[in-house]
Amino acid sequence: MYTIAPSILSADFATLGSEVRAVIDAGADWIHFDVMDNHYVPNLTIGPAVAAAIKPYCVTSDGQAVPLDVHLMVQPVDALAEAFANAGADLITFHPDAETHVDRTLQLIKDQGCKAGLVFNPAMPLDVLDWVIDKVDIILLMSVNPGFGGQCFLESTYRKIEQARRRIDSTGRDIRLEVDGGIKADNIALVASAGADTFVAGSAIFNAPDYTAVIEQMRSNLAAAK
Ligand code: DX5
Ligand code: ZN
Repeated sequence: MYTIAPSILSADFATLGSEVRAVIDAGADWIHFDVMDNHYVPNLTIGPAVAAAIKPYCVTSDGQAVPLDVHLMVQPVDALAEAFANAGADLITFHPDAETHVDRTLQLIKDQGCKAGLVFNPAMPLDVLDWVIDKVDIILLMSVNPGFGGQCFLESTYRKIEQARRRIDSTGRDIRLEVDGGIKADNIALVASAGADTFVAGSAIFNAPDYTAVIEQMRSNLAAAK
């Protein structure tokens, strides 16, 4: 039920294929892929060609596909969402304040055969969900201001996770609640207790010497979460 999604933003880009393989061998459930455009956020990362290049590595040693979770921090969204769908994305999330016609963009992503989601910055209310939650497969809450790995988890996120959990439960639909930024083995259980089920972690995993040890520690802390 809990999903750990390492963010390759903190991986060694010179050996990205083997980094993806290593983190999957270490127990990653999804691969989180951060796309930044130096416009919506003040940083520039990787595009659809890199997604297509790592897609063949998104598989476990016994042949199970590992979903490629593309987090778009770009403005506008539509053309890049389509390009990432073609590059092999399984899930595509975008910031609703980065595209004018949110409902249309969600539909566009789903029409490409991908799961679609909305991302909320720390100071962004969840109100847009009043109108589009029926088209949403995943809600991603930012627990840092987007743009960089290695920042500290913002405590206000706990309240927002609880709010988002209530909204999801009231739909009765299977919507993932993902949290991104500053997640480590020592706070993951609190994030789960607030209501999250999917955890992005970049620096906590890729800056550690042993990916398996970190992911195992996260899972055992999750197992103890109340
Ligand atoms: C931040 C990105 C995150 C980031 C998380 O804008 O969306 O996915 O890589 O990194 P950590 O886990 O280091 O905060
Ligand atoms: Zn992200």
